[in-house]
Amino acid sequence: MRILITAGPTREPIDPVRFLSNRSSGKMGYSLAVAAVAAGHDVVLISGPTALSCPQGVEFVAIETAEELYQAVKQRISTVQLAIFSAAVADYRPAVVAEQKIKKTVGKMTLELERTPDVLGAIRSGGFDGILVGFAAETTGLLAHAREKLMRKGCDLIVANDVSRKDIGFDSDHNAVTLLFADGRTQEWDRLTKRELAEKLIGECVNLVK
Ligand code: CTP
Repeated sequence: MRILITAGPTREPIDPVRFLSNRSSGKMGYSLAVAAVAAGHDVVLISGPTALSCPQGVEFVAIETAEELYQAVKQRISTVQLAIFSAAVADYRPAVVAEQKIKKTVGKMTLELERTPDVLGAIRSGGFDGILVGFAAETTGLLAHAREKLMRKGCDLIVANDVSRKDIGFDSDHNAVTLLFADGRTQEWDRLTKRELAEKLIGECVNLVK
């Protein structure tokens, strides 16, 4: 099976030396790519900047911004049967990117932001008929927010995690997640290493394709 995986953060430039980004390490997405290759699948990994080395045997596409991620996904989505969106995509970017480094002045400064494309949200409405898996990182109302995302983005499965917990999630080697399926089923997976979680999750996603 051919699987597309998005991973890592995006970087949205402010000027030639600054950007907006987030704390995603990419570990979850890279672990998914490793697990999928080990299970014999063909993997395209589309990743924002991380400190990780490219897993062996994957087709690797490096992106920086949400817009680049969107273009990279659009070009390849019709070639896959399963797409897993684990990237932590910036929801906003600077409305104007300064060509020169912005110099400080006395007093406050305001940065005007505009929305980025919702890459996962655009895929189902764009006609993709494969299996679509998203992630939901929440600090409050985990299940309600995740269920709403599942419906709004046309996913088959949302993997929800509570990022207010310090022992799991962003930049940690562990994660604990709740799986919410489009047919109403839920499953709770308690604290696992991202590697164990990735293996179980690839199995679960591949079952949805069959
Ligand atoms: N996602 C995406 N493109 C975006 C934003 C998010 O593909 N521009 C994907 C992520 O990879 C993840 C899911 O959508 O699979 C997260 O959904 P989202 O609603 O964007 O999560 P939050 O940014 O946490 O949203 P909210 O501010 O509504 O909590």
